Amino acid sequence: MNLTLIAGARPNFMKIAPIIHAINKAKKNGANLHYRLIHTGQHYDEKLSKYFFDDLNIPHPDANLGVGSGSHASQTAKIMVAFEEELKSNPADYVLVVGDVNSTMACAIVAKKLQTKVIHVEAGLRSYDLDMPEEINRMLTDAITDLFFTTTPEAGYKLIQTGSNPDHIHFVGNVMMDTLVANLDRLQEPPLYKEHQLSKGSYYLMTLHRPSNVDEEQELKRLITLLSEQVEEKPIIFPAHPRTQKQLKALDLPQNIIMVDPLRYLEFIFLVKNAFAVLTDSGGIQEETTYLGIPCFTLRENTERPETITVGSNELIGTSTENIIAGFHRLKNGQWERGQIPMYWEGKAAERIVKKLLEL
Ligand code: UD1
Repeated sequence: MNLTLIAGARPNFMKIAPIIHAINKAKKNGANLHYRLIHTGQHYDEKLSKYFFDDLNIPHPDANLGVGSGSHASQTAKIMVAFEEELKSNPADYVLVVGDVNSTMACAIVAKKLQTKVIHVEAGLRSYDLDMPEEINRMLTDAITDLFFTTTPEAGYKLIQTGSNPDHIHFVGNVMMDTLVANLDRLQEPPLYKEHQLSKGSYYLMTLHRPSNVDEEQELKRLITLLSEQVEEKPIIFPAHPRTQKQLKALDLPQNIIMVDPLRYLEFIFLVKNAFAVLTDSGGIQEETTYLGIPCFTLRENTERPETITVGSNELIGTSTENIIAGFHRLKNGQWERGQIPMYWEGKAAERIVKKLLEL
C-alpha cells in the first residue's frame, strides 16, 4: 500500500510523527506499507516547523510545497495547485491528513478529486462554530473522507449524525498523546526557566493565537490586562505565535507577562507539566493538560474537544471579565476539576491506525 502523508502546520507535526514511527516499525516487521511525506510549507519558521521535525525525529519530507502564508483563499489555493502536481506525479492508494488546518482540507479535496481515497486522523471533532476556520476545515474534510480515525467515541457519533458510514469510523485514540507519552522522559528545561527563577507551580503558562482573541487590538489588550490582574504574584510565561507577537508590538505588556518566542516541543511540554495552570485558546493544549492533570482555562466560548472538560482538567472559561474573575477565584481556592485520562489516550493510537491500514 502506498500512502501520502500530509503535514503543514505546527500541530500537524506532533500528530504525523507517531504515525510515521508506527509505519516504520511495521515495515521493519515486513509490512508492505510505503509512504511519502509531504510538507505543504504552511508553517515555515524554524520555530514552528524545523524544530518539531528535529525534536520528534520526523524524517525529512519527500517534498516541501513551500506555499507559505497568505489569506485563507490564497493559501488554500496554493496548497491545492501544488499538491495536485505532487499527487499526479506520485500517485498513492490513500492520502492521510491529520487535524484541521488549511493544509488538511486543501489536500483532502485534491486527493478526492483525483479519485484517491482520503484518511482523516482526528476526524469528527466539532465546535459547531463556523467563525473558526478550523471548524470549516473539519466539516469539509470529513464530508469527503473515506476512512475516519477518531480520538473519542463521541467524535464517531458526530460523524454518524452527519451521515458517515459507521463501518468506516474507527476509534483509535489520540495520536497527539502518543507523542506526549513517547517524549515525557525527554522533556527539556528551557533556559528561561532559570532566567526567571521558575519552579514547579510558580507560574502560569499562556498561549493565545486564535484570530478572535488576537486580531482585534482592543480586545487583545483587554484580555491581557485582565489576565495579568488575576494572577497576582505568579508570572505568566507567554510563548507567542508570530501573528500574536505582531499584534502585541503595539501594546505595552504588563510586567508580569513574559512574552517569548514559540518554544520547541520538548521545552513547551516541560513548561506545561510544571505550570500552576495553563491559559490557552489552542485545541491541542486542552488535550495535553488533560493528560498531564494540569488545570487549564480555555479562553474560548466553545470547544471541539468536550471530553477535556467532561473527563479532563479543562474548563471552558470564555473571555468575559465576569467568568475569568470567577474562574481564577475558584482556581486559587483549589476548586478546579481534577480529571482523568480519556480512554485510548495512552500512547498506542498510531499503532492501532497502522494495524487497521494493514487490514485494508
Ligand atoms: C494555523 C492553523 C491553526 C493552528 C495554528 C498553530 C489554519 C486555518 N490555522 O494557524 O489551526 O492552531 O496554525 O500554530 O490552518 N506565520 C509566521 N511563520 C510561519 C507561519 C505563519 O510568521 O511559519 C505568521 C504569518 O504572519 C501568517 C500568520 O502567522 O500570516 C498566520 O499563519 P497561518 O498558517 O495562516 O495560520 P496560523 O495562525 O499559524
